[in-house]
Amino acid sequence: MAATAALPVLGPGLTEEPLPKSGSHLMEDDPTPPRYKSEPADVSRLAEPLTFPYSGCIASNRFMHAAMTEQLCTYDPDDHEKNGIPTENLERVYKKWGEGGCGLILTGSIMLYGDHLESIGDPVVSPHHPYHGPRFEGFKAVAQAGKANGSLMLAQVNHPGRLCVFQESPVSSSDVPVIKNGTGDGIYQYKPPHPASIEDIHRIIGAFAHVAEYLDKAGWDGIELHGAHGFLIAQFLSPRINKRTDEWGGSLENRMRFVLEIGKEVRRRTRPDFILGVKINSTEFQDTGFVTQEAREICKHLEANSFDFVEISGGSYEKILMTHQRESTKRREAFFLEFADQIVPGLTKTKVYVTGGLRTVGGMVRALDTVDGVGLGRPLCEEWSLCKEMLEGTVDGAIITRIDPGDFWLALMAGNRNIRMVGLGQPPLPCWKEEIIEGLKAQYKEWASNKSTVKELGRYRTIDKAYADAKRV
Ligand SMILES: Cc1cc2nc3c(=O)[nH]c(=O)nc-3n(C[C@H](O)[C@H](O)[C@H](O)COP(=O)(O)O)c2cc1C
Repeated sequence: MAATAALPVLGPGLTEEPLPKSGSHLMEDDPTPPRYKSEPADVSRLAEPLTFPYSGCIASNRFMHAAMTEQLCTYDPDDHEKNGIPTENLERVYKKWGEGGCGLILTGSIMLYGDHLESIGDPVVSPHHPYHGPRFEGFKAVAQAGKANGSLMLAQVNHPGRLCVFQESPVSSSDVPVIKNGTGDGIYQYKPPHPASIEDIHRIIGAFAHVAEYLDKAGWDGIELHGAHGFLIAQFLSPRINKRTDEWGGSLENRMRFVLEIGKEVRRRTRPDFILGVKINSTEFQDTGFVTQEAREICKHLEANSFDFVEISGGSYEKILMTHQRESTKRREAFFLEFADQIVPGLTKTKVYVTGGLRTVGGMVRALDTVDGVGLGRPLCEEWSLCKEMLEGTVDGAIITRIDPGDFWLALMAGNRNIRMVGLGQPPLPCWKEEIIEGLKAQYKEWASNKSTVKELGRYRTIDKAYADAKRV
């Protein structure tokens, strides 16, 4: 790709000389958005297909649309059985992202139980849900929408464990409470958890596998287990949270049993060409001081258990790490590449994606020296066809928003808003404009304090048509 020489190389901040306007989604009267400046790089490397070793499926390029919670499913505060049915807004969101050129699209987290949500409006597939009816039709429609232009469509599947505000005593690996109640001005207040019984563990493993089988039948290409960001799978992996003394805790072998058993059960219940991946944290390992050994060991076992890919991320609600922690990571753009350096040499088949911090074609192409693919989150909430445009060479850097790169919660709020707007058929907010961000900041405290309450339901949820008559405000 040709370098746009006129622009200075900038870190987080605003360019003085914006690139020519591009991006078909932008409204005509919008000024040109400022962009991160890329070093010269061979974009054709990002266009190379990627074959997954166990399913045999092929992603058309190296871009992954990272999981981003949409909160666009039905929610009923009085009847959790009605929760989590996809709406037409959700279908619209994936139709739009499906036009954006990512080889692989991950949805936001799908939950296993209607009363164990992470947020209001999460999608839900439970073990008793049948392979027909409005819910099943809704999931079919969302898959079709995302796949219409050749992307692989995968669902992220998650159990929040102790990170669930809807439970008086949420389940976890053991009874270690969340130490910091939601950064971001106390967005979430979590109750102390209880340790899962052996029966709970087997029931939850079965529930994960049911989602996979259900989505397989509904036309999805695969799933990603959410083993990062401090949710239930991570609560088993983490020696700080998992204090069990039975075969599900203690040694690394025991702590990783939960994720590996889920993987085995998913493989047993799905077609051979169903993609199975997992998102894991680098930080779980950093906390223990056994970064290299534990991470490598886990990934070797994931490979031996036919996981097609591992997505590397970091941070949790106790410690948000969606920003650069060291000068060395800033130079490499991606937050977690140093961790990838440690685990990739131990793998011979399983593919590795790194997500977090990537903003320029140059940074992404360099990441491919270490990993197989790159995940993008926040930039795709801003610019829905960014990957396509990068592949076509129209742009070589993401839009620089006015959101401080260290402020993940404001970015989450902005992302949620944009997903909601696209769900309604409107363009996303131009977050490179100061007045837009000032507006969001003014509403932030209210948004944060209403999060996952009935107030949020009334105040912020706007969905136009559900697949079922579930009650909603
Ligand atoms: C609006 C929004 C929602 C998110 N929801 C999820 C989620 O459901 N599951 C998940 O694993 N990560 C979620 N993330 C984190 C992203 O997948 C990604 O790891 C993170 O944003 C770092 O990548 P980036 O620097 O490219 O944004 C979310 C991020 C945003 C901005």
